[in-house]
Amino acid sequence: MVALEQLSFPVPWTRPLFVTEIDAIGRFNLVATTANGKLVAYIFSMYFLDEMHVNKIAVDPSWRRQRVAILLMDEVFAFARLNGIASVSLEVRESNEAARKLYGALEFEERYRRPRYYPDGESAIVMTCSIAPAPGIA
Ligand SMILES: CC(C)(COP(=O)(O)OP(=O)(O)OC[C@H]1O[C@@H](n2cnc3c(N)ncnc32)[C@H](O)[C@@H]1OP(=O)(O)O)[C@@H](O)C(=O)NCCC(=O)NCCS
Repeated sequence: MVALEQLSFPVPWTRPLFVTEIDAIGRFNLVATTANGKLVAYIFSMYFLDEMHVNKIAVDPSWRRQRVAILLMDEVFAFARLNGIASVSLEVRESNEAARKLYGALEFEERYRRPRYYPDGESAIVMTCSIAPAPGIA
């Protein structure tokens, strides 16, 4: 996971940060693997009351553009619907066109810009997506 992280992000999470996030409460974290256990992708998210936030998602470069990210995001949406969560938010680097397209395809809307959000000074775009409750969820 740490190796894929380093390939995928300009300011990668460290191993201790992964350990903290894996153990933390109020998290919905998933990996996608092959049948023989090779890591293909991961998603880290957290929830509180009726809100959910995607902290990060990464797909192994050799598996990109095969809808693995969509698969993991769909799991987040299913969890949200089943738990009465009304909206999912995330930040994305301004320069990250692949991710902005992915979230746009999932009907996230770009809400506002957070200047110099990332440690290297790049700004973030804050995006949100409304969740329709599952039938039976008040
Ligand atoms: C962004 C990322 C998670 C996308 O993962 P993926 O599994 O390749 O995405 P999917 O195959 O599920 O793509 C779904 C849709 O998103 C859009 N999309 C994804 N990658 C794209 C790219 N490089 N260029 C343009 N559109 C892209 C397309 O609409 C795509 O549908 P299509 O292939 O039918 O056109 C992956 O590129 C990645 O791990 N990047 C590095 C880490 C990162 O930037 N994470 C996001 C941080 S906010």
